[in-house]
Amino acid sequence: MRVLSGIQPTGRFHWGNYFGAIRQYIDLQHAHDGLYFIANLHALTTIREPELLRKLSRDAALDLLALGLDPDKATLFLQSDVPEVSQLCWILMTGTPLGLLERCHAYKEKKAKGLSADAGLFTYPVLMAADILAYDANWVPVGQDQVQHIEVCRDIATSFNHHFGEVFVLPEARVLDSAAKVPGIDGEKMSKSYDNTISMFEDPKAIRKKIMRIQTDSRPMESPKDPETDHLYQLFSLFAPPEKVAEMAVLYRRGGFGYGEIKKALADAAEQYFKPSQDRRAELETRPDTVTDILVAGAQRARSKAAEVLARVESACGIRAPK
Ligand code: ADP
Ligand code: TRP
Repeated sequence: MRVLSGIQPTGRFHWGNYFGAIRQYIDLQHAHDGLYFIANLHALTTIREPELLRKLSRDAALDLLALGLDPDKATLFLQSDVPEVSQLCWILMTGTPLGLLERCHAYKEKKAKGLSADAGLFTYPVLMAADILAYDANWVPVGQDQVQHIEVCRDIATSFNHHFGEVFVLPEARVLDSAAKVPGIDGEKMSKSYDNTISMFEDPKAIRKKIMRIQTDSRPMESPKDPETDHLYQLFSLFAPPEKVAEMAVLYRRGGFGYGEIKKALADAAEQYFKPSQDRRAELETRPDTVTDILVAGAQRARSKAAEVLARVESACGIRAPK
């Protein structure tokens, strides 16, 4: 299977990004042909500072490599290094009904808030469709919030195929249910927009401090608690081995503990979990050329596939000679 996903470099990656999306990329790279990119063209709809966008794009690549993306197994590249995607985006745009885009949540939410949206935000799902279709991707691992965009991609591809013949492979979204919604320190969905995130690459002391600030309820220590509805427990389950999680569930149901104890256990488990990635990141930071080389080689591989698909599309719709 060809597996493809993109992630926007719009801020420091956090636990939600890791458990909801990045961990899947890393798991899938072993048995599949993986293509992963930093979606800097999409990020341009929100980041308008050139130095910041460059820095965040670079940091995103470092983070993915440090977290275990292996350039010998998977292809890692910058979205903008494959211009064929933008060319394909235009072709797809010519056949995309406005109504399909008006239903997409990012645009709808902005409009509902009375804010004016630009064409980039409105057509964002078409660029995402081009990202996916340009590589004949079969599976797209994403968090729950991106599933709608994959549906739009399938609609666009289906109608193109209907009109011009079987040109595109139809992709499928792959969502990890167990981490569909990682809670943040306030118990809401962890998201950089809510300022409730914990990153795997923050200073360990800062991470501990944030964990200590995780909001908990005010029930007395003695009263038993339901682990399944507690976000501290949910976070602990992401890091600790199953036997430790089972022991923790017993403790919750029995009661008689303070949340401070659980927070300490969570901080220890998280620190241990991400220690190898932190070390790898520090080491990679001393070799900036290696990261550049990986991105250049990745873009070359990705471009050769995208060029092949673009030629097929252009032939099918009359932009170039028939095949
Ligand atoms: P943010 O909400 O911080 O802006 P993004 O929207 O850039 O994060 O998300 C990048 C990827 O990480 C997406 O695939 C998204 O579904 C996933 N993701 C983000 N936050 C979470 C979360 N709290 N739980 C699970 N997955 C998440
Ligand atoms: N829109 C996705 C997000 O915000 C990022 C993205 C861009 C993407 N192109 C993609 C994800 C193609 C999967 C496939 O998370």
